[in-house]
Amino acid sequence: MGHIQITPSILNADFARLGEEVARIGSADWVHVDVMDNHFVPNLTFGPTMVEALARSTDVPLDAHLMIEDADNEALAYVEAGCGSVTFHVEAAKAPVRLAREIRAHGARASMALKPATPIDPYEDLLAELDMVLIMTVEPGFGGQKFLDLCLPKIRRARELMDKHGVETWLQVDGGVSLETIERCAEAGADVFVAGSAVYSADDPDRMIGDLRAKAASTR
Ligand code: DX5
Ligand code: ZN
Repeated sequence: MGHIQITPSILNADFARLGEEVARIGSADWVHVDVMDNHFVPNLTFGPTMVEALARSTDVPLDAHLMIEDADNEALAYVEAGCGSVTFHVEAAKAPVRLAREIRAHGARASMALKPATPIDPYEDLLAELDMVLIMTVEPGFGGQKFLDLCLPKIRRARELMDKHGVETWLQVDGGVSLETIERCAEAGADVFVAGSAVYSADDPDRMIGDLRAKAASTR
C-alpha cells in the first residue's frame, strides 16, 4: 500500500473563480479534475483548454478523471494539457491496454476507473499496466452524493489482487468520501482519496485536507 494521498475534487468549487479555489487547497497531493462530456455521464464540465489553464495556475499536479465516452481518442489531450495522471473509465475505453500504454508513453500516470456495478476481477491481468485504479463509491456524474458501502468489498478485493501481483498500483476512491466514510475506505485498502463537497463545503478546505489525512492515517 502506498502512502496516504488526498486529492480534492474541484467539481464543487466555484467555477467562476477556479484559480483562487485551487489556491485554497495548497496541501493537496493532487488536484482531482472531473472531466464530463454529457454522454458518459449526464453532466458537462470542462475540456483540455480549461484544464491546461488550470495546470498553469498551480504547482499541485493535476489528476484528471475522464468521465467521457471517447476516452480512446481524447485522453492524450489531457496529458498534453499538463495532467500528471489521467484516469479513463473501463466501461468507455475500447482498448484499455493500448490506452494505458499511450498515456504512460506520453509521460503521465495511467489510471483506470470502475463504476459501482463494474467488478475488478475481470481486469486482474491489467493491473501491471496501471499506475492507479479508481473505484467509484457513487454513480459518476455529480458531487455531493451519498457514499455507497456496497463498493467496500471491491476495494478490499482490488487490494488483494494488487498484493497478489506485487504491483505498486495506487488505489483511489471517489464519491462521498468525508470524515464519516474515509476510515472505511482506508481500512479496505484505499491509499488515494478524492473528496469534493467535504473539502469545498468546509470553512477552511486546507484544514479539512489535513483532517481527512489524519483520519485515514489513524487506520494504519
Ligand atoms: C463524481 C466525481 C467525483 C465527485 C466527488 O462523478 O467523479 O470526483 O466530484 O465529489 P464528492 O466528494 O462530493 O462525492
Ligand atoms: Zn472524480
